[in-house]
Amino acid sequence: MIPTKLIFAARDREAALAEGAALLAQDELVVFPTETVYGLGANALRTQAVSKIFTAKGRPQDNPLIVHIAQMDQMEMVAREVPEFARKAAQEFWPGPLSIILPKSERIPENVSAGLCTVAVRMPAHPFARDLIARAGVPVAAPSANTSGKPSPTQARHAFEDLCGRVPLIIDDGACAVGVESTVLDCTGEVPIILRPGHITQQMLEKVLGQVKLHPSLLTNEAAQGKVASPGMKYRHYAPKAKLIVFTGEKKAIEKRIISMYDGYDIGQCAILCLDAYAPDYELRRIIALGEDGKGAQARLFAALREADEQGLELLLFHADPMQMGLAVMNRIAKASGNTLVDCDAQK
Ligand code: TXA
Ligand code: MG
Repeated sequence: MIPTKLIFAARDREAALAEGAALLAQDELVVFPTETVYGLGANALRTQAVSKIFTAKGRPQDNPLIVHIAQMDQMEMVAREVPEFARKAAQEFWPGPLSIILPKSERIPENVSAGLCTVAVRMPAHPFARDLIARAGVPVAAPSANTSGKPSPTQARHAFEDLCGRVPLIIDDGACAVGVESTVLDCTGEVPIILRPGHITQQMLEKVLGQVKLHPSLLTNEAAQGKVASPGMKYRHYAPKAKLIVFTGEKKAIEKRIISMYDGYDIGQCAILCLDAYAPDYELRRIIALGEDGKGAQARLFAALREADEQGLELLLFHADPMQMGLAVMNRIAKASGNTLVDCDAQK
């Protein structure tokens, strides 16, 4: 057990920066806020430091990490070469929720990239994250600060629940604004490919880069198996303890199916997850509301899954609206459910 210290950045920013940077310099771990989710950081240039991340999270060794930088010129320290279109993407979307896969520089240890010859790089938009990386003076490898398999932490207390006793410092700076992890864009081939959808969408990228593809596994929504482009794709992710079923199709058809399932289940053990506007149609049934729109759903999703577990629920019925919620939310919820999707139009 490592004693875990909690510092509130809003109250004590200087202490948070100084203690965070000092721990990173000593090859120790620090949980810090980003605009997407909380990250579990270590000095990305040190094998020893990075290996602590895998231990603390219980992360499979073959799942590579994202390297976070504070200034553009650190890109050259992390990547062996930067194709023109990757540079364009960085200039347009950094700082922000976009991770760019590039050929890896020799300076980045093997365990950061899990043996791959590529590396993911991102400059976060969160001012505290950038200040911490700048103060540490090194690139910071950081996965999401949850234990492997659980929903990503969008509040410091989520990271605390998972990692208390496993990390020396958690820096709390409130809830993460974006709420889903960064878009992962593979820039090592001829055409950029989205490996993980996020707040930066295919359309946004295409406006700047021309053609951008979606990885085929994102279109079939099936858990990728075997050898995959992004190792993170093949693991069960984000899963709550409760059983989760995702309902898709026309609104009325979804409601009918959800209500029938809800009403047939033990009282008090089940909840419906939906956008605010749909809640009245479920009348007095237990709702976990996901917000007004896609942006709200992105920000709320992981916290909602954790809340459901805190309430001890057994069954979660998710009213999907892919048009409003967007690909990032649909991708995370499909994974969280272990791809338990019910097409209500097909069941009429
Ligand atoms: O928003 C985010 O990206 C957050 C914050 C902390 O920055 N980080 C995050 O990291 O979500 P993590 O480790 O939970 O997810 C990293 C994803 C995984 O799916 C991993 O497989 C993929 O990025 N990835 C990392 N390096 C890669 C590489 N060289 N090639 C392909 N995929 C890679
Ligand atoms: Mg993660």
